[in-house]
Amino acid sequence: MLSRWGVEWSVADTHNPDSVRAEIRPNTKVIWVETPSNPLLGITDVPAVAQLAHEAGALLVVDNTFASPYLQQPLALGADVVVYSTTKYMGGHSDVVGGALVAGDSALGDDLAYHQNAMGAVAGPFDAWLVMRGIKTLGVRMDRHSENAARVAEFLVGHPKVAEVLYPGLPSHKGHEIAAKQMKSFGGMVSFRHKDGEEAAVQVCNRAQLFTLGESLGGVESLIEHPGRMTHASAAGSALEVPADLVRLSVGIESVDDLLADLSDALK
Ligand SMILES: Cc1ncc(COP(=O)(O)O)c(C=O)c1O
Repeated sequence: MLSRWGVEWSVADTHNPDSVRAEIRPNTKVIWVETPSNPLLGITDVPAVAQLAHEAGALLVVDNTFASPYLQQPLALGADVVVYSTTKYMGGHSDVVGGALVAGDSALGDDLAYHQNAMGAVAGPFDAWLVMRGIKTLGVRMDRHSENAARVAEFLVGHPKVAEVLYPGLPSHKGHEIAAKQMKSFGGMVSFRHKDGEEAAVQVCNRAQLFTLGESLGGVESLIEHPGRMTHASAAGSALEVPADLVRLSVGIESVDDLLADLSDALK
């Protein structure tokens, strides 16, 4: 979207600081990172990339939507601005759309607030109230999301129809050690690749009963989606394209035995 206003951008594998270093240009102003990332659950070493950004005179912006501030605090790890879709875990009940920017520096915060006010991207009072109410239970919800997601990931690892499970809590995940250092636990998002390809992945999404088909995430109820045809369809053909056999789960706070039974049926 910002290309229309002359903003140039390039893509790096932010798990690998050398890849980030290679993409820094003389005019780089911002390094923008999601960790864990959507939908591949990639992990970025925030202190390492913060150092690279600051050496280049750029700001590090971290989208912390998947972790929430209960599981990870990027400002304390060296980031300059943290982004939240409050639609997700902060609200927690899939009944509000919103976002938040958190700046470590008050001058930068004032500048962002000025732009927000001038441009009109302000939350309505009822939306703000829903997010405030959601935040009161953030900690207990995130603990349960993480526990349930860890069980779901373990189940999928042992499933014959699953080619690969992407969850930073798994010791086999390439970002596991960094995630263990910078996160309290590993969150409620799990993705996996179906052994039988795209159609089979779509069928799992359609067959699941307790996991509702939906593009959002971070609510108390479990959701399932096919990123290639849904949330990330617009990335097709770009450097951000996602595998066609990928399924993304937002693991809710329901009884985990019910969730495992539902996935087991859907994968049959
Ligand atoms: C990591 C992440 N950041 C930002 C957004 C954008 O959020 P919203 O839909 O509330 O604008 C999303 C939405 O899916 C997301 O997953």
